[in-house]
Amino acid sequence: MKIDGKPYRSIWREPSGEVRIIDQRWLPHELRIVPLATRQDFADAIRDMWVRGAPLIGATAAYGVAVQMAADPSDASLRETWEVLHETRPTAINLKWALDEMTRVLQPLPPEARAEAAYRRAAEICDEDVEINRQIGLHGLEIIREIAKKKGGGRVNVLTHCNAGWPATVDWGTATSPIYHAVEDGIDVHVFVDETRPRNQGAQLTSWELNSHGVSHDLIVDNAGGHMMQHGEVDLVIVGTDRTTARGDVCNKIGTYLKALAAKANGVPFYVALPSPTIDWTVSDGIREIPIEERGGEEVTHVQGRDAGGNIVSVQISPDGTPARNPAFDVTPAELVTGLITERGVCKADAAAMAAMFPDLAKG
Ligand code: MRU
Repeated sequence: MKIDGKPYRSIWREPSGEVRIIDQRWLPHELRIVPLATRQDFADAIRDMWVRGAPLIGATAAYGVAVQMAADPSDASLRETWEVLHETRPTAINLKWALDEMTRVLQPLPPEARAEAAYRRAAEICDEDVEINRQIGLHGLEIIREIAKKKGGGRVNVLTHCNAGWPATVDWGTATSPIYHAVEDGIDVHVFVDETRPRNQGAQLTSWELNSHGVSHDLIVDNAGGHMMQHGEVDLVIVGTDRTTARGDVCNKIGTYLKALAAKANGVPFYVALPSPTIDWTVSDGIREIPIEERGGEEVTHVQGRDAGGNIVSVQISPDGTPARNPAFDVTPAELVTGLITERGVCKADAAAMAAMFPDLAKG
């Protein structure tokens, strides 16, 4: 996608061989591009959320393996790298998917062939992510087109949560890809952007990227969605996912579940944009089986913004010493999900439909 009219991906390799990312901690205030040079850099970037979003976490881990293979391509190094990168964030399954995929490709090779093969596979994983998201966009476009037709060409209002946009992927985004495709198609689309406390990925990233691409939107507080659905202001919800189980339970940013409940109560279609590497075929019951990241309480007791001098500041909003809980994700049970928008088409969130859509990937 574009920043100030210039095309960007969220991670890329320079002709010099250097891997670079957009350090998302500074957005929307500043575009900081930083190189990641060592395995530790990659682990820090994922853990401390310089990069975030399930598909981008996976792509970053893949390049982290490549950088480490250039430094030490031994079996021990490959095994240790899987561990070091895997423990950075627990919920998004794309991290494990990418590390397993790199190991599958590299393990059989002699050590001297590993670095080149690792860079090649990491680049392919990035390109595949872009294509998957483009396809999700085309399938999601059909849903938006149908709603636009029913409304006689009237404005289609989409509510989204967190940032499942292009900064969360290599390009296009998952939940935003249908929106970008609909805008390109000439459909009148408006997006309600949940701010997404505590880290405000909606306020900071989704608003920023929609603004950069001239997509009509309003930022809303997390608690506004239910009210707006009751008043017919939302035609559909599209969210991303960090891990979706084999029976269609959807784990995504905290607060997604409440939006799904409100959507069900108000007859608003609730869609999940789901790239296949985000499906965890080994688990079924998302509520009991998906590990939920618990982050520090300071994200809840403080908010981050920019002061008049342009400095990024953290402001305390609760009394000194207030204890806080900060689960970062929740699980929306499959029965609340209208459909999964995958790169192969839209399917129901249930085991049979998912297995029929991905017979080559489904286990058992
Ligand atoms: O904690 P984050 O910012 O990594 O969480 C991101 C999300 O929850 C996204 O909705 C999800 O990864 C889908 S990204 C296409």
